[in-house]
Amino acid sequence: MINFHTPVMCSQVLNYLITKKKGIYLDCTLGGGGHSEEIIKEIYPDGLLIGLDQDIEALEFAREKLKDYQDKVIIVKSNFTDLKILLQDLGYKQVTGVLFDLGLSSYQVDNKPRGFSFLEDNFLDMRMDLSKQFDARYIVNTYSEKELWEIFSKYGEERFSRSIARLIVKERKNKQIETTKHLAKLVTDVYARYKKNRWHIHPATRVFQALRIEVNDELNTLKRALKEAVKMLEPQGRICIISYHSLEDRIAKHTFKEMANKDNLKLNAYGVRILSKKPIYPSENEIRENRRARSAKMRVAEKIFPEEVSEK
Ligand SMILES: C[S@@+](CC[C@H](N)C(=O)[O-])C[C@H]1O[C@@H](n2cnc3c(N)ncnc32)[C@H](O)[C@@H]1O
Repeated sequence: MINFHTPVMCSQVLNYLITKKKGIYLDCTLGGGGHSEEIIKEIYPDGLLIGLDQDIEALEFAREKLKDYQDKVIIVKSNFTDLKILLQDLGYKQVTGVLFDLGLSSYQVDNKPRGFSFLEDNFLDMRMDLSKQFDARYIVNTYSEKELWEIFSKYGEERFSRSIARLIVKERKNKQIETTKHLAKLVTDVYARYKKNRWHIHPATRVFQALRIEVNDELNTLKRALKEAVKMLEPQGRICIISYHSLEDRIAKHTFKEMANKDNLKLNAYGVRILSKKPIYPSENEIRENRRARSAKMRVAEKIFPEEVSEK
């Protein structure tokens, strides 16, 4: 079996997420099923695991990986923004814990035809959900210069966003930008113009991150999904979010803060208590063994109701 993805911060996830064995746990980013496998091993046969992903290749892989526990595992293709409808359709009103392990799996990054990486030359795709039409090639070749620099600066925090957008628009008048290497070269040319030839990270990293977020509408989806997930948690149920860049982490932090606020509690009749005052990081050992873990941060919160605020 190929190594689809190595799950990050497994022991911390299990410690925070699992509050009882006889619970229902929702893995919103099933990927290769790494976290899910650890969760189901912990709760089987008392509990139930529901795993979802929008990527059919991930679902196929995870289904195989979790087959020994299949009587207590439900795997569904879905975007996590639809988690409430999904749970209701499955007949569950509440869950005990929800996990989000954001971003891409190693398989998605390394699997060449998906076009997420500039290290190989591939078609500019970047869709996590292969049934969707909207891909990175469409954005790069049709968005206006202003739209391009806006997404590069907003989603990539790219300091040369205007120059990169200008060069893209100029280039595509002569030749459509179809491949990852073509786009990466344009970005590198802009950096070279500013005499930025020595990089800490590859110059195309931020532009590729921005395109990926735009293609998959990642940040808007996340904001909605976190609130829906808290809504579906049972009392004292936990939500864990692992993020890999500051934009995702900011959404997790602000959404938790907003939901922990007393006014929110009065308004919605439920909210959260934040269990991770500071983000939780992987150990140095884990970072040494798994490079992907180096940018991971986890935040955890617990569902509460107004009466609990005065009690604790
Ligand atoms: C970092 S990987 C998860 C890896 C997984 N925890 C494991 O241990 O194998 C993130 C996964 O989330 C999926 N994903 C990202 N955004 C999603 C969304 N809005 N809805 C459903 N799945 C999503 C991706 O397709 C990818 O497979």
